[in-house]
Amino acid sequence: MAPGDAPKASEWGSLDAIASYVRSCTRCTLSESRTLAVPGEGSQFPSIMFIGEGPGFNEDQQGRPFVGRAGALLEELLALVPLRREDVYITNVVKCRPPENRDPSPDEVKACWPFLEAQIRLLQPRVIATLGRHSLMRLFPDARISDRHGTIMKWRDGIIVFPLYHPAAGLRSTRLKEALQEDFVKLPQAVIAALDSSRGASQTSGENDDSLDELDGGDDPQISLF
Ligand code: URA
Repeated sequence: MAPGDAPKASEWGSLDAIASYVRSCTRCTLSESRTLAVPGEGSQFPSIMFIGEGPGFNEDQQGRPFVGRAGALLEELLALVPLRREDVYITNVVKCRPPENRDPSPDEVKACWPFLEAQIRLLQPRVIATLGRHSLMRLFPDARISDRHGTIMKWRDGIIVFPLYHPAAGLRSTRLKEALQEDFVKLPQAVIAALDSSRGASQTSGENDDSLDELDGGDDPQISLF
């Protein structure tokens, strides 16, 4: 396969296949300056998938998403839900570090989209939590993070998108950190909205539906929202 021709989103068989392609990808010039590509990591069956902007210095060194200061804040915010990073899936819009942490260019975002799209298809999260402006704009090009953060948006295939400020913004501004804290505790509501919308869809199609059992745990205390 030529470097420019990534398989279509529907052609990837596994997250590992995506990760190994990403690690040697040369579809854009970010590959020339990266140390390690950062495909993403976490639960293979996540209710929530977090999408950040792109790897920073620490992520580029370690090949893992959100392992620097922004990552520490992300873990602190997840604990409010409460969740751990291994309960969710974490990735980025671009999988290689933009030099000097600049914004990824539209061409770079476009070159990396087949990987993110394939990850979404394979993981089928109930909720995509976008972290920051670039991530939200990848899914909703006209949306403004300042208007939409902490609100429930419907994307395709019944997936709910829940926009959040980027944790790095929370490190710079107390106001945005407080907004992040308030929004993170609302994440279960986004998962409930996703369960409700899939329940509506399956009732319309006449299927059996057990999402309400999932919601209240049914008789099994081990089953929870996440
Ligand atoms: N910021 C991001 O957007 N992604 C990371 O992985 C780390 C910092």
